[in-house]
Amino acid sequence: METKLIKIDRQNMDAEGIREGAELLRAGRLVAFPTETVYGLGANALDAEACAEIYRVKGRPQDNPLIVHVADLKMVDSLVREWPEAARRCAEKFWPGPLTMVLPKSSAIPASVTGGLDTVAVRFPSHPVAAALIRRAGIPVAAPSANLSGKPSPTMAEHVRLDLDGKIPLILDGGPCTVGLESTVLDVSGEVPAILRPGGVTQENLAELLGPVEVARLREGEKPKSPGMKYRHYAPQARMILFRGNRARLLAAMTERFARARAEGLRVGILCLEESAAELRELDPDFLFVLGSFDRPQEVAARLFAGLRLCDRQRLDLILTEGIEEEGLGAAVMNRMVKAAGHQLVELN
Ligand code: TXA
Ligand code: MG
Repeated sequence: METKLIKIDRQNMDAEGIREGAELLRAGRLVAFPTETVYGLGANALDAEACAEIYRVKGRPQDNPLIVHVADLKMVDSLVREWPEAARRCAEKFWPGPLTMVLPKSSAIPASVTGGLDTVAVRFPSHPVAAALIRRAGIPVAAPSANLSGKPSPTMAEHVRLDLDGKIPLILDGGPCTVGLESTVLDVSGEVPAILRPGGVTQENLAELLGPVEVARLREGEKPKSPGMKYRHYAPQARMILFRGNRARLLAAMTERFARARAEGLRVGILCLEESAAELRELDPDFLFVLGSFDRPQEVAARLFAGLRLCDRQRLDLILTEGIEEEGLGAAVMNRMVKAAGHQLVELN
């Protein structure tokens, strides 16, 4: 199959590409499209066959449910049995935006979309291309991140092309994603709202509106609330070690680990903050990527996945990554870094 890539001008949502994408979705085909978080791989959420194709194309495990994307609140009514009070308030405050809510599902949603769960994850994206595409199609759109399973989520159309070329009919190119990490997943189907995946809407943002909010952590041997939590994500090909904690001691520890790896003859890459780049560059690593400043976690969030993908093209043996403070958006960044490192952490107090 030939994969068409169409650039969409943000000023012109009437574009031919949007029309073509909407028609493909209505015909049960897949379309990759930009959102403010990451690129999504969309299909008609009410069409079980179309959604099955998403799993095939991504190589995604069947029990990992999809997020259903809407372009207005009316669309949500047909997808859920009820709107808990916390969900109403979050929708008013954070939609459209990088928040996904897990709600009691209605019978309209095929079981294949929700991995057999009694809940459905719903998101109203703010990206103008996503909104225009869904509105034009007039149907809710199931969309996981548009990467092959196990790769970092795509934050540029080029990432999608590298993963899915020849496997889907259309990619809409809306430029780089501004948030760069997947949406916050908030479970509002139980008594206390629980964050299943940290993202662009932070725990602090949510707690301010809702009061106490739990943060779900995956414990050994327990069934995860969100099936996606148990899979190893965003894993670069090279082994990655994440350095977390006291900034003053971080650089010394990274330098020491670097020297050891070099002595073993390894090809070593470094992902670091702007503030450390000059000093780490002195080590002459095989690859160095600056994520952003520690003052601007949104920059680090937006560049992390692109940095991980670049590492894969460098045939590295080892990646040393500098962590950031786990506050606000920093918590979501560190969540993804920990996963990419497969939990190999060096903690510095
Ligand atoms: O930002 C995003 O959310 C992007 C863009 C495309 O919108 N989408 C995305 O989808 O990241 P995906 O499929 O890569 O991640 C969906 C996550 C998974 O961890 C999945 O387990 C969880 O949401 N999820 C989906 N439905 C759920 C449900 N009913 N209950 C609990 N977790 C659910
Ligand atoms: Mg994903």
